[in-house]
Amino acid sequence: MTRMLWRHARIATFEGNDWGLIDRGALLAEGTQITWVGAEAELPAGLDVDAEHDLGGALLTPGLIDAHTHLVYAGDRTVEFDLRQQGASYEQIARAGGGIRHTVACTRAASDDALFAGALARALALRAGGVTTLEVKSGYGLSLDHEARCLRVARRLGPATGMTIRSTALPAHALPPEFDSRPDDYIDAVVAWLPALHAEGLADAVDAFCDTIGFTPAQTRRVFDAARALGLPVKLHAEQLSDQGGAALAASYGALSADHLEWLSADGIAAMQAAGTVAMLLPGAFYHLRETKLPPVAALRDAGVPMAVATDHNPGSSPALSLPLMMNMACTLFRLTPLEAWLGVTAHAARALGLADRGRLQPGQRADLAVWSLDHPRELAARFGHDPCLAVVTGGVPCTP
Ligand code: NIG
Ligand code: FE
Repeated sequence: MTRMLWRHARIATFEGNDWGLIDRGALLAEGTQITWVGAEAELPAGLDVDAEHDLGGALLTPGLIDAHTHLVYAGDRTVEFDLRQQGASYEQIARAGGGIRHTVACTRAASDDALFAGALARALALRAGGVTTLEVKSGYGLSLDHEARCLRVARRLGPATGMTIRSTALPAHALPPEFDSRPDDYIDAVVAWLPALHAEGLADAVDAFCDTIGFTPAQTRRVFDAARALGLPVKLHAEQLSDQGGAALAASYGALSADHLEWLSADGIAAMQAAGTVAMLLPGAFYHLRETKLPPVAALRDAGVPMAVATDHNPGSSPALSLPLMMNMACTLFRLTPLEAWLGVTAHAARALGLADRGRLQPGQRADLAVWSLDHPRELAARFGHDPCLAVVTGGVPCTP
């Protein structure tokens, strides 16, 4: 097994939900796992390693986890940004056949290779910002064949980037044109597709969009029942544009996360707290859609609901490709502390994906690392428009930028 040593590093382990700073630290990985972390002066004597990296005092942290993206799609929606700047709303554009439906038409028309090339470029951009684990949703295919195709493209991103890819089936994202005015028939179809997607091993979880321009709680419930029957965990786009009680519904299914949450109620918070459901905050969509209703961060904090932060990368509501920028926005717009923003893209993001083996630097965790030209991790959350990631390591293997 390959033994790799990183030394002369300032390390932030995030042990005990704190920074866990080690001033002059070292980290040893054997194969894909971390086996030792501590002060360099305490490294076991006579250690025999295959490769050694002197980080020259750079900051070493867990690799970042972007736990909510819609990375696989074709086409452009910047014209909608232009329309919104002239007064149209996200909802009006969606109801007029733009929005998600526009991306669906472009995605269906694109070849597998074109979809892969676009998604790969975006994944590499995220990786350049420190990301080593990436969740990728379907949701722009909206037929069995096209959803499966998009999830297969997502699966190919892992070997191509070294990142861990978690794929989420989101056929209940919008109503495709062939089911116009027949949402319940569409949900029947989605329920019938999930076993096929699962049988091919294409989905690690199932998601839905529960909102006035998405699906109702009753329809969402049917999708979740189908996921549960297959043993697949669920997550939900909930309370983004209105309060549908989606977070509480998701929590009642033991959801890994409820995402967006600007309109989350006190009941929703209590249900999430009781179920251990992660609150996935998506400041990119809030910012890009120029929303004004803030997610109830103080109440989530008081209730002890773990908060995660993700890019929600998609062509419409959040065309963002920097997770560190989302950390900054989570602080400035949503009032997270820098430490909360970090936990939101490490330990809590891991939990939102059902992954217990990453998000902190400690023995037994996966050797997914990010190296930064920073003195203290809070600098990453405080500054914006900078690019301090020097390198990432995935499963003990350094990635070339
Ligand atoms: O997370 N809210 C629904 N889904 C996406 C937006 C998708 C789109 O506009 O293309 C989101 O914001
Ligand atoms: Fe989303």
